Amino acid sequence: MIDVKDLSVKYGGVTSLDGMNLRFEAGVCGLIGPNGAGKTTFFNVLSGFVRPASGGVTAFGDDLLRMTHYRRARWGIRRTFQTEQAISDLTVYDNVAMIHSKLRGSAHRDDIMQSIEFVGGGISPWAKVGSLTAGQRRLVEVARAVAGKPRLILLDEPAAGLPDGETRHLTGVIKNIPSHTGALTILVDHDMALVSSSGRPAAGSSSSTRRGRPTTARATSTRRRWPAPSVRTEVCGAASRPANAIASSTSPRRGRAPDAASGRRCAR
Ligand SMILES: Nc1ncnc2c1ncn2[C@@H]1O[C@H](COP(=O)(O)OP(=O)(O)O)[C@@H](O)[C@H]1O
Ligand SMILES: [Mg+2]
Repeated sequence: MIDVKDLSVKYGGVTSLDGMNLRFEAGVCGLIGPNGAGKTTFFNVLSGFVRPASGGVTAFGDDLLRMTHYRRARWGIRRTFQTEQAISDLTVYDNVAMIHSKLRGSAHRDDIMQSIEFVGGGISPWAKVGSLTAGQRRLVEVARAVAGKPRLILLDEPAAGLPDGETRHLTGVIKNIPSHTGALTILVDHDMALVSSSGRPAAGSSSSTRRGRPTTARATSTRRRWPAPSVRTEVCGAASRPANAIASSTSPRRGRAPDAASGRRCAR
């Protein structure tokens, strides 16, 4: 479980996150919001690239913000970025192998091969990443994220710019990450479409939002079709909430979505 408490990030005069309070539980969690809402900033805080002005994050009982970024990788955080990070001149296998892993020797090799097999897409471990399609390169990035026994996987708009067929395959893969790795997975997107296209509509029931308390919402209407893992969606920086979306980010101080304010300020 990831507990985010009163998290604020400021870049000079820009407040990217303003008193964010959220709780993510096991499974795939969607985090949505318009451009500039602070979604990537939130990931940067979790992965250690950005130091927040205030607030805290507890991950499975550990104080994440006290760890250096390389200790977080060792702890089990993995992420993908909005821009491609896989190295074109290296093989798929070598790209995955460079991810931190507690495994050694043949167990490490098996884990790499299983991660590549898990993402599918007809990718040969021995192909150079530069020879792959855009969708396959995204899958390599997901393979890197699931390798090495991760505990928390952060996916930042992984399907952006992909054609429908490749998006469908990718979202199917994402859906299976928790059962493959056991990792809590947070999927960022700026609207509901990606989460919905995974086959699990994110909307289903609205949570009642109590002032000053984070709430968690579940796609109850889809539970029978998708029994596990459950999907929750949080709205980040939503200036206006989608009618059937789930809004659960609340400000203790003002009793309203904190990033609604920052979303307006930060909108590009
Ligand atoms: N390094 C930075 N320096 C200054 N402002 C930044 C920086 N990174 C992000 N921001 C600002 O913070 C806000 C949130 O950005 P971001 O987290 O990238 O939003 P999202 O991922 O939701 O689109 C935006 O207004 C953006 O311009
Ligand atoms: Mg972003």
